[in-house]
Amino acid sequence: MDKCQVRFPYDIRDVDAATNAELLEYFTGERTGFVQVGPEGYFFPHKYKVQAELYYNFEARPDDVWITTVPRSGTTWTQELIWLLANGLDFEKAQQRPLTERFPFLEFPLFVHDAVKAELLAENRHSPAAVEFIEHISRPGYETLGELPRDQRRFIKTHFPFSLMPPSVLEHKCKIIYVARNPKDVAVSYYHLNRLFRTQGYVGDFERYWRYFQQGLNPWLPYYSHVKEAKQHSQLPNVLYLNYEDMLVDLPGTVMSIGKFLDCAPDAVGLEKLLNHLSIQNFRENKSVNMHEMAAVGILKKGEAGFVRKGGKDITAKQHDQKEFVDNPNLLKLANDWIQQNIECIKTI
Ligand code: A3P
Repeated sequence: MDKCQVRFPYDIRDVDAATNAELLEYFTGERTGFVQVGPEGYFFPHKYKVQAELYYNFEARPDDVWITTVPRSGTTWTQELIWLLANGLDFEKAQQRPLTERFPFLEFPLFVHDAVKAELLAENRHSPAAVEFIEHISRPGYETLGELPRDQRRFIKTHFPFSLMPPSVLEHKCKIIYVARNPKDVAVSYYHLNRLFRTQGYVGDFERYWRYFQQGLNPWLPYYSHVKEAKQHSQLPNVLYLNYEDMLVDLPGTVMSIGKFLDCAPDAVGLEKLLNHLSIQNFRENKSVNMHEMAAVGILKKGEAGFVRKGGKDITAKQHDQKEFVDNPNLLKLANDWIQQNIECIKTI
């Protein structure tokens, strides 16, 4: 018998009309509007209103492996690491099947607005494979992931904060890996991603973007609410909390912690091969992880920064901050003040 449906426990409200109109002008991938959810005000496109309860009731399985992050925190890098470790370092299979298939993104279809989907289908109408791919990526993850065979271990990417994840993930004590990254680098990277993906279609400048970011007016934000919730869960035995910056400094150490957490630590030869595979240079060229299949159907805009961008700090740069902030001292001050005000709320957890 099917499990009873759980009622979605939070309110979902439309973003106020004036803000919504402004956001629709600057985020051209959404055509209807945006909502905010629950006491933290998590931000989503309108489709979430209709599908929240279905996502919330997605049934996790005890052997699932989940990753959750604020977007642009090193998710893809960590996903590839996890998948390879948990699959006996099968580099061949990893090359043959894109990461988006091996490690699907639960709620990506929320971002494929019906009007954008229609445009993509029209542009790709002469390629049955492309049409099939567009249909597939716009089907809700609770359907496609629910259909995967029971004897196949599932690897699931989400950006949902802990409070919006299906409660069965914690009930079944699924392994959950969380990666956090400092907010300024997340924002710069997310800005470029919002420009790159037509499903977001951002057309404004960075300063404007940062103001939206700081107010939590971009999907899966507010940033500090997301990270705070993860910290609150980080002591659970089935949760591994990582920092992107630590991964940059000590990737072998991260590989071994994930290996221990998932019970599949590599030997010295395997570790060496994996580190090489995960280097940013190799990653950038790796069609299996760099959203090549999305670019092929026109979801990625040409002329924008790639999905795997520069990664980490630019060690040749004198400044610690990225150009987007260094070029705009007022914005840098605004950002630093905001961080200062908020950092305490996660330090004390
Ligand atoms: P930048 O845009 O700052 O370069 P996500 O996968 O969560 O979207 O995170 C994307 C960020 O991780 C991007 O940051 C990307 O360049 C960086 N990244 C991707 N692969 C990486 C790798 N192999 N090593 C270090 N950083 C990587």
